[in-house]
Amino acid sequence: MVDLDELWKNARSELAAVADPEALDVWRLSYLGRHGALTQVLRGLGDLPQEERRSVGARANELRSELEKALEERQAALERDRVATMEAGSIDVTLPGRPHLVGRLHPITRTLRDVLGALNSMGFQTVEGPEVEWEHYNFDALRIPEHHPARDMQDTFWLDSRKDGKRSMLLRTQTSPMQIRFMETHQPPIRLASPGHVYRYEATDATHEWMITQVELLAIDEGLSMRHMKGALTELCQALFGRDRRVRFRCDYFPFVEPGAEVAIECGLCRGAGCRSCGNEGYLEVGGAGMVHREIIENAKYDADRYTGFAAGFGVERIAMLRHDIDDIRYFYGNDLRFLRQF
Ligand code: FA5
Repeated sequence: MVDLDELWKNARSELAAVADPEALDVWRLSYLGRHGALTQVLRGLGDLPQEERRSVGARANELRSELEKALEERQAALERDRVATMEAGSIDVTLPGRPHLVGRLHPITRTLRDVLGALNSMGFQTVEGPEVEWEHYNFDALRIPEHHPARDMQDTFWLDSRKDGKRSMLLRTQTSPMQIRFMETHQPPIRLASPGHVYRYEATDATHEWMITQVELLAIDEGLSMRHMKGALTELCQALFGRDRRVRFRCDYFPFVEPGAEVAIECGLCRGAGCRSCGNEGYLEVGGAGMVHREIIENAKYDADRYTGFAAGFGVERIAMLRHDIDDIRYFYGNDLRFLRQF
């Protein structure tokens, strides 16, 4: 005869280990199903002697209702667990939504667009050129031959490729090579604005980066003079900085212009008086400029008695620094979101 107490003990410990509805069903079948352990006991009652039949029968029936009750309780507990798990992983519709991060333009891109916008409105067309450049366009054609001291002012990243045993390609150090490239394929009148990156092999500090953005200007036409150069560049600077900002031109030297000039903008903080921000100068340099050298006009096979022109090259980072009072150029490419999110 089966030990009913033993059966009850086993059934309870197995039930406690049941973790899901499928296991619960297996448990139900093994005790209460048609071939289940308790059902077998009840079926075998007839074979028992009269005196045992009554007491075993009573105990077995009692056990059946106990097992059924235990089954129900376990079922309810499993359901409670299921709901709790679902709730823990579900979406709380009362929570505030996650904001979508909106991208924005880099401050240099924005400044560059303003510069080009002002130039385009004056009739200058935007044309981009290669950043990997021939020595010829970056230096020689701009009247900067090998060993010319002007090369020392623009420390250079040379590429390893060699022509006639000599390195001849480099990362352009200025956007001025685009003057030559454009003149090779176009006839006057010319109004060119050429933006892009330039590279210089130099140590960085608060006002110098090894990669910067320049915008080159070139105008060639009949009868262009310094007046036109000063007029166009003053218009550009005032479009960017405001009509009340003065623009200063001073003599400077670049081999591809004659005469050459340095372009500076009145310091926004001291208005020309001199302060710490402008190094007591009252003005801050933003670019170089000048009248296109006669030899360059001749090399382009234009009639140098008929055509003259002016050119300029501006540093976009310097312009952005001046417009937003940024005291260190290295912020632009440092990828610090605390800085970039301000624009
Ligand atoms: C030039 O690059 C000449 N190509 C400009 C030019 C064009 C003159 C046409 C005449 C005619 P410069 O080396 O001075 O000149 O650079 C021009 C401007 O680029 C500077 O005024 C400055 O605003 C910016 N710049 C140059 N080097 C750096 C640097 N390392 N870091 C930040 N800005 C720079």
